[in-house]
Amino acid sequence: MIEFHSVSKRYGALQVIHDVSATVEKGTTIVLCGPSGSGKSTLVRTVNRLEPIQSGRITVAGRDIHEKSVDVNTLRSGIGFVFQQFNLFPHLTVVDNVMLPLRRLRGQSRRQALPTAMLMLERVGLADRAQSLPADISGGQAQRVAIARSLILKPEILILDEPTSALDPEMVGEVLKLLRELSAGGITLMCVTHEMGFAREVADRIWFLKSGRLTFDASPDLFFSQEAHPDVRGFLSSIHRNH
Ligand SMILES: Nc1ncnc2c1ncn2[C@@H]1O[C@H](COP(=O)(O)OP(=O)(O)OP(=O)(O)O)[C@@H](O)[C@H]1O
Ligand SMILES: [Mg+2]
Repeated sequence: MIEFHSVSKRYGALQVIHDVSATVEKGTTIVLCGPSGSGKSTLVRTVNRLEPIQSGRITVAGRDIHEKSVDVNTLRSGIGFVFQQFNLFPHLTVVDNVMLPLRRLRGQSRRQALPTAMLMLERVGLADRAQSLPADISGGQAQRVAIARSLILKPEILILDEPTSALDPEMVGEVLKLLRELSAGGITLMCVTHEMGFAREVADRIWFLKSGRLTFDASPDLFFSQEAHPDVRGFLSSIHRNH
């Protein structure tokens, strides 16, 4: 579904992605982890062209995303994207936030978009909060609203960048539960997270980035074993200490 072919990226003189090659198979879940500043956000943002690359090639469903004929709005409609900080519009109700992509990208009226938005809210368990403002719901609920919004155009790919790291601990579980359901539902999912319990249980592959290099790409069994790359084992024990 997604292929990175020798992808490199610089910000000015600073090279942040070094020659990354990897494949995300359709319907699988990838967890991406690694130290702060290792390039995780940058790498996932290259997939919908939020970040340009200097060399290499990225294909989505077999098409080079940088080809002239690829329309960036079409590309982005097929890829849901969820950020750490929800990015909901504070002046819009929950349901109005969720329907926004249908209105902006599909030209639907509020009335046309409403039934789909309500269905999405039901799916994330928040139909009863449809008329609330973002300030009046919890962080975990806000992130579920953001996920509902990211799914409303029925993307085949969902990318999440640390979706639980801004949440109070008691709210992490409800978001991970939703991601587990989505993963089981067959969407292709790429999630940057340090929730290693989730990674072990849900990921098909776990990618470890260090200084912009994909130093390890393994099944959870291998990733959490003694045979894992020494950098991974060091990283896991540092996470363990911080918990
Ligand atoms: N817009 C930018 N301009 C210049 N440098 C940037 C920019 N965005 C990120 N960087 C640098 O690129 C490197 C990778 O950053 P990135 O945000 O991708 O890391 P990360 O793995 O997501 O880190 P974190 O775990 O802290 O979120 C870092 O050195 C960062 O300082
Ligand atoms: Mg990041």
